Amino acid sequence: MYPLGFLPFFLALLPDTIAVTAAVIVPILVLALWLYAVLSRSSAPADDAPVHLPGSSLSHILPFFRRRFDFINEGFQLAGQAIYQFSLLRTPVIVLSGEAARRDFFQAKDLDLNAGFKFLSGAIPMVPGVTSNLETRRIALIHKRLVASQTSERLKRLIPQILEDSRRVINTWGYSGSVDPFEQLPELIFQTTVRCLAFTELADDAAMVQRLKQLYDTLDTATTPATVLLPWLPGPSAVRRLISTKRIYDIISKTLDERVKGGIVRDDTPQMLIDAGDERLIIIGFIIGLLVAGARSTGTTASWLITFLSGHEQWREKAAEEVRRLVAEHATHLHGPSEPRDTSPEPITSQEPPLSAHRPPPLSELNTSLASIPLSAWENDTPVLDALIRETLRVAEPHVAMRQYLPPSHLDEKGTGPASLYLGGKAVPPGAFVMYPFSDVHLSSEVYSDPWRWDPGRPERNLKAPYAYVGMGAGSTTCLGKRLATLELKLITALFVLGFSEFHAVDRLGAPLAELPRPNWNDILTCKPPAGSCFVRFERTVERDA
Ligand code: HEM
Ligand SMILES: *[C@@H]1O[C@H](CO)[C@@H](O)[C@H](O)[C@H]1NC(C)=O
Repeated sequence: MYPLGFLPFFLALLPDTIAVTAAVIVPILVLALWLYAVLSRSSAPADDAPVHLPGSSLSHILPFFRRRFDFINEGFQLAGQAIYQFSLLRTPVIVLSGEAARRDFFQAKDLDLNAGFKFLSGAIPMVPGVTSNLETRRIALIHKRLVASQTSERLKRLIPQILEDSRRVINTWGYSGSVDPFEQLPELIFQTTVRCLAFTELADDAAMVQRLKQLYDTLDTATTPATVLLPWLPGPSAVRRLISTKRIYDIISKTLDERVKGGIVRDDTPQMLIDAGDERLIIIGFIIGLLVAGARSTGTTASWLITFLSGHEQWREKAAEEVRRLVAEHATHLHGPSEPRDTSPEPITSQEPPLSAHRPPPLSELNTSLASIPLSAWENDTPVLDALIRETLRVAEPHVAMRQYLPPSHLDEKGTGPASLYLGGKAVPPGAFVMYPFSDVHLSSEVYSDPWRWDPGRPERNLKAPYAYVGMGAGSTTCLGKRLATLELKLITALFVLGFSEFHAVDRLGAPLAELPRPNWNDILTCKPPAGSCFVRFERTVERDA
């Protein structure tokens, strides 16, 4: 699911400008490297090597792309063991499961996430061990900027902006009707993510946001088994992918140039990078790479969170109570948002209690009262919202963690290579790829009773196992966008539970759904159920002055 591979992919591909000619030159180069990698690989199966799945033909491997969840589970059945390996063309990939392997995996050093993703998510194949230093430094800098973009000071300023963007998008849905949560929520989240990570000029331009979203969607559909298995082959989907990337690149770089040349200064995340004197490629790579990483996973989570709430009235009510309490504690004595803002805030009209349980306030009032809840309360005083997000990530995040084992000396020394890494008792040779599917723990009936059931009230006693919950990563690799993603999810959930007098799950004809759809773990990007199988019917209050 996690499209992080795009960031190293993008940085590796570009000297400074992206050229379609790369589709011709890169493939030839890569083919040579690939052949070298395949031929120079020494395969010495030892006793402690993971058992090998039979069959490495294309037909055996295609399900890895089309139905990854099934593929992985069938592998465990075929192997009859908790750890096995299969060949992706000629490259061995080790699949882990079980408590011991999980602990070892999350605690291991020298498992490289970027190299793992780059290989397994459809970027150019590399000679194992070759991740350029420059690239590593650039990724490290981008990560540093991402952390700096989520200081409390910055997040405080983003709260009213996220709320206002959400209000605007929800307004386009009308006052009652139904939405497809798997279309509309990713769209909403895309808007707020552009707001938080990219240029204000773009976020203010709804048509441009829509265009960018379409281009990113094209990147998804253009990732086919062929782009992963035969990446040197500039087939139609690889070309579509490159063209979309170039169009996204053009939009971002044009906006950057106009801002810098025009001497315009805005209060947003790219400005922070400009002011820090970052090189062009870093700024563009930051925006392009993190937009896709951030918007997709947050959008998927929002879709499922709202879908689950639409089928669980008691949790809708609990969440509403929690947010009402926060409003009561923080907003009652205020005459407007407490966050520092440029414009003088409109006072909240006090004739009517703004937040009655039965008549939801209009969104325009709600966005203002929610904006007056301080960041610290959103982050530290929302046990119900926290439980909703956590439980949603547990059942609806079809992530497979991917790494390449790259011990430092692997790069320098020839001949006397470093030792194998042991995960769950099995040897992982230097250069090997390793995968840990989150389903192993999140859908384990030993760790979670009735694991497919969405139940934010699950007792903690089920969670004694090590790394029982890894929804935002674990060990040395945790999500660097967690603060922002969590805040966005909470604000949007708050708007839903307070801003709608009702919302519930219906089928395409509007009849209440007897059962909510099940997250589709085979859909590694969005986890979506079949299109048209679930809608959310909603009703909200008409704006007073509308
Ligand atoms: C609900 C939304 C999100 C979820 C569930 C999520 C989940 C994760 C997970 C599970 C990992 C670890 C991956 C692994 O171990 O294989 C990760 C890493 C990462 N995430 Fe997120 N993420 C979310 C949103 C975001 C956002 C909004 C951003 C950026 C703005 C972001 C940026 C990153 C980055 C840069 C890493 C890599 C960290 C590293 O290389 O050490 N994520 N995320
Ligand atoms: C809430 O929405 C109204 C428009 O209806 C807008 O004028 C106001 O600035 C918004 N409040 C915040 C905090 O963004």
